[in-house]
Amino acid sequence: IFFKDLKGIKSLEEKVAEKLNIKKVIIAASSDDDKLLTLKELGKVGSDYLNQILLKESVIGVTGGSSVASVIDVFKKDKLDFSKCIVIPARGGLGNKAEFQANTLAEKLANKLGSSYKTLYTPDVLSKSTIDLLMSEPEIKETIDTLEKIDLLIFGIGNAETMSKRRSLNSEKIGIILNKGAVSEAFGYYFDKNGEIVHEMSTIGIKLSTFKKLGNLIAVAGGEEKVASIISICKLNSNLVLITDENVARKIINDN
Ligand code: F6P
Repeated sequence: IFFKDLKGIKSLEEKVAEKLNIKKVIIAASSDDDKLLTLKELGKVGSDYLNQILLKESVIGVTGGSSVASVIDVFKKDKLDFSKCIVIPARGGLGNKAEFQANTLAEKLANKLGSSYKTLYTPDVLSKSTIDLLMSEPEIKETIDTLEKIDLLIFGIGNAETMSKRRSLNSEKIGIILNKGAVSEAFGYYFDKNGEIVHEMSTIGIKLSTFKKLGNLIAVAGGEEKVASIISICKLNSNLVLITDENVARKIINDN
């Protein structure tokens, strides 16, 4: 597929980055009638960028979701020895297919890099006391400590309503989250349009405070239902690099 206005793409990328106040925006071509095709383009662009910025000893966090999966699917390392990298899912998960995938994706990316990886097979919802108990297990503690060392995060952004349904939350819970103004979801947290947290899943994963301090983070998100979601997440950390598609980029520019 082709860009609608190839010449203007570089300047559109700059305008969107400036409007969102983030480090960089990279735009993939959009297909108006084939979401899978757009997803594939996002994957290619994301994978190229990943190759550019990976360091020899990166601790790479990944989330689940089809967008991150599309990057890792086509990724092929093109330089260096990455054997000292570590890949880790940014959040635990096992109850639900979408979350489960983060573990699979971490393993898949590690295999492509020839690096090691960690997994976090824990239920999606954990009580505080279970989390404390798990933390006392040395192996789990080591994995959780590694979450704090993530220096590159590749993550997906979801539309809050879509994600709360995909996670099969009950309708009362969904109502509460949406009534609080949730528009986006990322790594287990729901946010309103100003990037304020409105709900947090009680699970093991990267802390919001850690996320806010990351120097390298790549969000992969396209599709027009995510315009408000993307705008919201970009308020959390100005080091963010956004991989999105052309239609979304134009909508962001026209949003006021
Ligand atoms: O469930 C994992 C996750 O990364 C969520 O945090 C995010 O909202 C969602 O997947 C994005 O999924 P997709 O890329 O399929 O839209």
